[in-house]
Amino acid sequence: ELSPIDKAKFVAAKRAADMVEDGMRVGLGTGSTAAWLVRCLGEMVREDGLRFSGVPTSARTAQLAREVGIEVLSLDEARWLDLTIDGADEFDRDLNLIKGGGGALLQEKIVAAASDQMVVIADKAKEVESLGAFPLPIEVVPFGWQTTQALVEETLISMDVMGRTSTLRMSHSSPYIADEGNHVLDLHLVRIGNPRQLALILNQIPGVVDNGLFIDICDTVVIGYGDGRVEVRD
Ligand code: A5P
Repeated sequence: ELSPIDKAKFVAAKRAADMVEDGMRVGLGTGSTAAWLVRCLGEMVREDGLRFSGVPTSARTAQLAREVGIEVLSLDEARWLDLTIDGADEFDRDLNLIKGGGGALLQEKIVAAASDQMVVIADKAKEVESLGAFPLPIEVVPFGWQTTQALVEETLISMDVMGRTSTLRMSHSSPYIADEGNHVLDLHLVRIGNPRQLALILNQIPGVVDNGLFIDICDTVVIGYGDGRVEVRD
């Protein structure tokens, strides 16, 4: 028997899996909700004969997809995708997102941008009035990361945000290394007044590879509830 939170993730994933049709090329997200999706799709491949190709957004997702029997393509093999289905850490009423809590934001954003449609699957608790309570992840290159961090914090002074501290993401006792070899800084902003502006300005800072704000990328959010209800917003 699933806990309410897992049930919410599962029903959202299940609904989104039904959007996948034969012959599609589909971006496969990363995180615990996306893992439900990958397992659902694997079952549809094995039991219903669904035929599609999946483009994973992390090494973790690639491994799971292969395990459950999904045909895996790299993004360069697939080029353009019909659909990407991924989780999120927060979404607002404009369907803008914070992603990257799972540390895979760069591949996730590249894959989503290559897709005709991006569908987010999330439990109701991820919905927010304004983004920023969840720490905003940014990927920075390891070279000079402390200088980059100082520049980021200085830049935040002039931005419409409430907090401006940042922390280097760790894995055990060393810096976390994302799939592309970068480090991740988590920005504790509390409230982001203008996510569109912040997303653009952060990416201007040398050493910043990308940030976890997904602006105008998501088309649909499938929201799961603990009692098994699903709501689709687009
Ligand atoms: C991974 O890098 C993230 O963008 C995930 O999409 C996000 O952290 C959601 O993960 P959960 O589904 O585990 O909450």
